[in-house]
Amino acid sequence: FNNKQLVGKKVVVTAGPTMEPIDPVRYITNHSSGKMGYNIAKEARDRGADVVLIAGPTNIEPPAGVEVVRVNTTREMFDAVEKHFSSCDVLIKAAAPLDYRPEKVMKEKIKKDSEGMEELNIKLVRNPDIVSHFGKIKGDRIVVGFAAETNNLIQYAKEKLIKKNLDFIVANDISREGAGFKSDTNIVSIIDKEGNIEDYPILDKNQVAKIVLDKVCTMLNIKS
Ligand code: PMT
Repeated sequence: FNNKQLVGKKVVVTAGPTMEPIDPVRYITNHSSGKMGYNIAKEARDRGADVVLIAGPTNIEPPAGVEVVRVNTTREMFDAVEKHFSSCDVLIKAAAPLDYRPEKVMKEKIKKDSEGMEELNIKLVRNPDIVSHFGKIKGDRIVVGFAAETNNLIQYAKEKLIKKNLDFIVANDISREGAGFKSDTNIVSIIDKEGNIEDYPILDKNQVAKIVLDKVCTMLNIKS
């Protein structure tokens, strides 16, 4: 068994949430801790890859020996992926980027005590879908997505796999105990373009990372 299967390969991993500011003191975000993506970055490093870890706001320690790019917003994450995409062999999108951002970021703190402030409406506009954009122009690269769902897991994940032109997708039902956001474990199903579905039991996120990278390595071997 060659444990340095990824020597000479560049792997870009995104992890964590993004955050979108509302005003100088407030923002919206989600529950992603970055653990899933950080474990993938670590496993890719252990297999010898040059790893770029593009991370949204998280407070966990990044693995040593990987290039860490810090971002806040979804558009910053998009730009960071764009910078590294052309030279990469594999893109793994474990991050949970916000799909929407406030249309306007207020320059001053929003005051609640001014006239007519019983309700506050914040208009949100769509962010770019990063994995979809790069999936469509991937060429020979392997692009892996995740799907975080609360219902219809397999059906929705299959739709994302096709729509975003991914090589495979890691589906997690975030409503299940021990799966998805924040926990050290995850429960995933992996679906590939051929329609194969592999269901896994509850596993530590580092074991899920191994499974994801085993599949990436198998695909790289077939291509080379
Ligand atoms: O960080 P943890 O606490 O460890 O939690 C792990 C996780 C639940 C965040 C992770 O396992 C996971 O499911 N990540 C994907 C979360 C997500 O955004 O899922 P989605 O179904 O909304 O998006 C599908 C895919 O499109 C994902 O690969 C996502 O990174 C990508 N996406 C989504 C929106 C967007 N604007 N751009 C994207 O690239």
